[in-house]
Amino acid sequence: MNRKDGTAKVTGTATYGAEHQIAGLVHGYLITANIASGKIVSINTETALKSPGVIKIITHENRPSIAEPTNNFMDSKIYEARLPLSDNQIHYGGQIIGLVVAETFEQARHAAHLVEVEYSSQPPDIDPEQVEFSDAPSMFGEDMTFKKGEFETGDLSDAMDQADIHITATYTTATELQAPMEPHAIIAHWEGNNALTVYEPSQWVVGSQQTYAELFDLSKEQVRIITPFIGGGFGSKAFPWSHAILCVAVARELQRPLKVVLSRRQMTANAGHRSQTEQTLSIGVKNDGTLLAIDHLAKSFTSPVDVFTEPCTGITPAMYRADNLRTRQELAVFNVGVPTFMRAPGENPGLWALESAMDELAWALDIDPVELRLKNETHQHQQKNLPFSAKAFSECLRVGVKEFGWFQEPRQVRSMSRDGQQIGWGMSASTFPALRGMATVTVRLLADGSAEVLTSANDMGTGCYTIVAGTASEILQLPVEQIQVKIGDSSLPNGGMAGGSQMTATLVPAVMSACQEVLKQAQKSTAIEALEYLKTSGQEAIEGTASSSPGEEGQKWAFQSWGAHFCEVSVDEEIARLRVKRWLSVMNVGRVMNPKTAASQVRGAIIMGIGHALMENCDFDPYLGLPTVYDLATYHYATHADVPRIEVIFVGEPDYNFNPAGVRGLGEIGITGVSAAIANAVYHATGKRIRDLPMTPDKLMINN
Ligand code: MOS
Repeated sequence: MNRKDGTAKVTGTATYGAEHQIAGLVHGYLITANIASGKIVSINTETALKSPGVIKIITHENRPSIAEPTNNFMDSKIYEARLPLSDNQIHYGGQIIGLVVAETFEQARHAAHLVEVEYSSQPPDIDPEQVEFSDAPSMFGEDMTFKKGEFETGDLSDAMDQADIHITATYTTATELQAPMEPHAIIAHWEGNNALTVYEPSQWVVGSQQTYAELFDLSKEQVRIITPFIGGGFGSKAFPWSHAILCVAVARELQRPLKVVLSRRQMTANAGHRSQTEQTLSIGVKNDGTLLAIDHLAKSFTSPVDVFTEPCTGITPAMYRADNLRTRQELAVFNVGVPTFMRAPGENPGLWALESAMDELAWALDIDPVELRLKNETHQHQQKNLPFSAKAFSECLRVGVKEFGWFQEPRQVRSMSRDGQQIGWGMSASTFPALRGMATVTVRLLADGSAEVLTSANDMGTGCYTIVAGTASEILQLPVEQIQVKIGDSSLPNGGMAGGSQMTATLVPAVMSACQEVLKQAQKSTAIEALEYLKTSGQEAIEGTASSSPGEEGQKWAFQSWGAHFCEVSVDEEIARLRVKRWLSVMNVGRVMNPKTAASQVRGAIIMGIGHALMENCDFDPYLGLPTVYDLATYHYATHADVPRIEVIFVGEPDYNFNPAGVRGLGEIGITGVSAAIANAVYHATGKRIRDLPMTPDKLMINN
């Protein structure tokens, strides 16, 4: 199936958050801090208030009232625990310190620059060598999914003694930005004090609805979130950020619809990032390649105003069998904005380290890296103590070897060249857990022969519209063109969250059940018969609603998706230019609902992984603590010219233990392992082992 929303997107009729036309709208522009640590001594708005078109200027001195949220994920969840404009303290560069409201965007922006702020500043914490680390706390409370990444089994030191070979290496990653194509933006529209409509890109409209209700002392029913299209989120659009909370609060005071759009520079501090990480892996192995022990220590950084640990070690007990395992996570505080979920949070940097180390081991043992992985596959999740359901990791590796044309003989460093450039091949494993939540869906079969599918779910570019339509088309046996999908509105039945790669596994079983419910209502077995019945009955529609949620299966099985990446790179050593030339990924994700959008998801993730490997880095000035990145020219990510043809193959069986559709998710898995595959290929090409991301030319030039 082609993308259901494709035409709307390429012709510009898809309406994004900031594009909704609301009569009487006024514009807000954020005032942000120019220091990274300290406090505001004075803030003078006198000149700015006299500037043309200015309606109001809000600072911490006249902040609007906002209720403290529970912020526990169940009742409410905001990204930054500190409410906007709480006091005069500055915790990070770019922190929001005020909002100017004016009749036009230009007037608001101009006036924002006329506000005079006097600070007293102190040296910011931004140097990993100068901050103190402590054990990472559990995020979001002990009951939540994101437990601290601590685990131990077996006897590590004993096993290390028994090993024939050890390696110990430290791998780092840079601070990365989600940098979605659609900037963060919001329109808040109050009608009186008790009816709020929010137009805002949101990966979880029902969650946002609850959160705004709590922040502004409303019932859920008094809040509506509308987000039919999202231009990418990658974890940064799951909950309200401070600018949005402030926008809603000020719009209520003014009783005017208010729009706030973040500039790219403002997004750098106020819309999330992936923390830089430092991971040390020690691995002990027998001469025959059997892993005995893995010790994995990960360090990441959070913000003074909230706790987020980049959970790098979570994946280690799931990936390879080793009877002696230890994982630890440490956290330190930087004067930066709040880090948060970014596509495969934890799994992406975690596999960068683990899959680089596996390649280092393979060279040390003189074993093929595919063989080493096959030899150490685990059929048990070693932390959950549960068997994996429908796992086809070894098939991913074998199919990859065949289709890529992987080495038939032992590989040798610097053994391939073409047109004066060194050529290298590298591979890595890929994995991501499969999650599923609760969803409710309503399907209406209409007398004109079309059907509507209604649910609050979201499509952030993932293909949700398409697979929902495809599923309804399959069950009702109606052409897919006759299925209308209405999503991205909290007033529709609760469709769950587009996060953790769970939307498809959450939604598809509910869509199936709701379609079956329609047929049941009509007491017919096909939509054609039901339509005949509908025409004679004189009803407008036959409607069916159904919910689906996980059951006890999670106590019997561990659900996880698997993959393998194979790539070729070229390195022009004279100018240290590294290019990715060829890519093959083999993925095992349960049932593939629609090969075209599924492969597109995997390709997108690999492209993001190429950016992570080669160029993405949000650096901070070491003295000022301010980001040196402020737009899409200073934050480099992969463009078309950086991306080769990417071939994606799916293997394995539907995972019916997981849900009736047999589908797992694939939003995030594609990025995991990409950077390691590239670094492993660079080593093969050049003999240089790069352990610090991104692999910029300066690192390729250094002899190591
Ligand atoms: Mo994702 S990082 O769960 O949007």
